[in-house]
Amino acid sequence: MKILGISGSLRRDSYNTALLHNAPLELELWDGLKAVPPYDEDDDVEPAPPAVAQMRVAVAGADAILFSTPEYNASVPGQLKNAIDWLSRPQATSVLRNKPVAVVGASIGAFGAVWAQAELRKVLATAGARVIEGDVAVGHAHERFDANGVLIDDDLREQLQEVAEALVNEAALREAVAA
Ligand SMILES: Cc1cc2nc3c(=O)[nH]c(=O)nc-3n(C[C@H](O)[C@H](O)[C@H](O)COP(=O)(O)O)c2cc1C
Repeated sequence: MKILGISGSLRRDSYNTALLHNAPLELELWDGLKAVPPYDEDDDVEPAPPAVAQMRVAVAGADAILFSTPEYNASVPGQLKNAIDWLSRPQATSVLRNKPVAVVGASIGAFGAVWAQAELRKVLATAGARVIEGDVAVGHAHERFDANGVLIDDDLREQLQEVAEALVNEAALREAVAA
């Protein structure tokens, strides 16, 4: 089973990218977010811009996706939302349609990007993805990882495991139905 990890942060030392590394999953981290151009319906034709085509192939080839999002001004970072806009087209046959996805998040504020996570779930559901319930909200993220990027909060680790398991179960179920 192939699980793709998508961090909504472009930052080198991102807590959200670190959070994905802590998921108890064999995860392939997708690192193409920065290269995705601004969505323009005039450009959304075949062939798609190369970075978009590569992203769509990566998402299409994944059995499930784990997103980790920061919160920017109480919402999803623009570049992540922009990428999802590309992924959501063509609407009827988009690579996100029926894709099992889960959302977690980290922020240095107290609430762990809960608003951004909620908005990202809404956007993904609108795009037709199968959004797994359950969240992991890493608040005060600067205090939750050790120097090696290991999540040091046991409750959060447990929550991350639960979300990861639910995501894998959903992907396995879909695989069984398709077989
Ligand atoms: C433009 C911008 C807006 C932000 N807005 C919020 C916010 O609304 N809520 C919050 O908790 N943190 C906010 N932050 C702080 C982020 O939580 C913090 O930068 C975090 O480390 C980003 O995640 P990352 O470590 O994965 O890059 C904001 C940061 C930036 C750069």
